[in-house]
Amino acid sequence: MEQHFVIKGALDSVTLKDFQTQLSKIKFDGTMFDLYPTPGPNQKKDAEHIEIGTSKESEISQNNLNSIWQSINKTVTEKLGTIYPTYGVFNESVTPMVEHVDAIPTQRDYNLKPAYTLILPLESDVKCHTVVWDVTSEYPVKFQDQKIVGSTDYQHTEADKKLLSHCDKKVFGWGKPYFYEWIAGDIICIKRDHVHASDNFMVDNARATKKSILLLTRFDYS
Ligand SMILES: [Fe+2]
Repeated sequence: MEQHFVIKGALDSVTLKDFQTQLSKIKFDGTMFDLYPTPGPNQKKDAEHIEIGTSKESEISQNNLNSIWQSINKTVTEKLGTIYPTYGVFNESVTPMVEHVDAIPTQRDYNLKPAYTLILPLESDVKCHTVVWDVTSEYPVKFQDQKIVGSTDYQHTEADKKLLSHCDKKVFGWGKPYFYEWIAGDIICIKRDHVHASDNFMVDNARATKKSILLLTRFDYS
C-alpha cells in the first residue's frame, strides 16, 4: 500500500457542493486551536504545547461524520482497504503547519492502528499544497529521531525552498518532498505516521486562506 497519494476527483460535484455548503455555515467561534496541544515527553515543564501551526476548527458530530463517511467510503476503501473514521473537523488554516505526524499516543484510537489522514480541500484563495516526505516518526517530530524510508538523493529547487521556508532546516536532509496541490474534489491520503506539513502558503500573501475537512482514520474497528 502506498503511504501517501491523492485520489483525484474523489468527490462528485453534488457531494463537493454539499461539503462546501456545510463549511459555509460553520461559525468558527474565533478560537484558535493548535492541532496538537498535548505536552510532549521531552518538553520543558513550562511549555504549554508544541507549536506546529494554528487552525480554526469545528469538530464534526458523530452523526455527520457517519454521513460524510458514507459519501466517500466506497472511493476511499477501494484505494485503502477497510478503514474507519475516528475523528473529523472542518478546518481553516490560520498559519502554515510545520513538519509533524498525526499519530499521537494520547489520541483515542492510538491503540486501534492509526491509518490515514484524509484531507478534503474545499476552498482556497491561493495555490497551496500539503507536503509529505518518505519519512516516519514517533510523536513529536521535534524531539524524536526520524526514520528516512526513501532516498535522500534529491536537489531542492528554489521553489521547494520557498514553499518549505517555515519548516525546520532538517527537512532538507529527508530527500524529495512530495507536494500535493489542494484541488477541491480531491482527497489527499497520508499514512498517519508519515511526516507532513503544509506549504508556506502565506509567504506571498499574509491574508491567504484555505479550508478543508480533515479526517483521521484507523484500521481496527475496536
Ligand atoms: Fe497533519
